[in-house]
Amino acid sequence: MVEFSLPKNSTIGKGKTYKAAAGAKNTKKFQVYRWDPEGEGNPVLDTFEIDLDECGPMVLDALIKIKNEIDSSVTFRRSCREGICGSCAMNIDGGNTLACTKAIAEVSGDVTIKPLPHMEVVKDLVPDLNHFYAQYASVEPWMKADTPIAKNEERKQSPEEREMLTGLDECILCACCSTSCPSYWWNSEKYLGPAILLQAYRWIADSRDEATGDRLDELEDPFKLYRCHTIMNCTNTCPKGLNPAKAIGKIKELIAERKG
Ligand code: SF4
Ligand code: SF4
Ligand code: FES
Repeated sequence: MVEFSLPKNSTIGKGKTYKAAAGAKNTKKFQVYRWDPEGEGNPVLDTFEIDLDECGPMVLDALIKIKNEIDSSVTFRRSCREGICGSCAMNIDGGNTLACTKAIAEVSGDVTIKPLPHMEVVKDLVPDLNHFYAQYASVEPWMKADTPIAKNEERKQSPEEREMLTGLDECILCACCSTSCPSYWWNSEKYLGPAILLQAYRWIADSRDEATGDRLDELEDPFKLYRCHTIMNCTNTCPKGLNPAKAIGKIKELIAERKG
């Protein structure tokens, strides 16, 4: 029988363990992915035992406590701490989400924290988002409108037209959806992925934008758009409750409609 084994450099080892202070009664273990580009070893999971009576309620609170009090080299991104900036996106307990809005109490057992999957890792929990942002730039995410308007006038929308953007403009570009999408894992060089396609649709759906035809031309491509096979991981994982799969479906509908 053929036996398969993972290459040595693809396995995650066991790292250091840090115990909670003596006397702590309400403890929980956090297993945190560690990888240092300047080191030579494989990634490891370090175990930090945290006294929850001395910690805020969210996973990000625990990470900040670990960094402040136990190991200042633990590396992760965060900014707003209220689910707005998207920078603390990571894989927690097997799902992609925001560390600042994920309650520790939602995780039974140890809390495993890894970087967003299938991305190059810069260090520890920090993924390399350069390609993701280049893909975002490629959809030209700004309003294009040549029709002149009077000085001091605005490009107006009716409430109904504005409503078309609801469910789209709340996207915080955290990349949780794209990094949960199997099609994006295997084809991210060419497939734009759910986050960027939702953003592309945000401008297509904007009544003030006058470049819809050009935008659809750009997206009508077997790889950029049609690698989506409606697996729905994206929608199931979005921490903002958005539906990128639906936005992708809308783009496909518009392309089909204009073909007649
Ligand atoms: S659609 Fe949701 S998961 Fe995807 S980037 Fe936007 S906010 Fe994040
Ligand atoms: S619905 Fe499309 S974009 Fe969303 S996870 Fe599935 S293949 Fe990826
Ligand atoms: S820190 Fe901004 S979304 Fe979590």
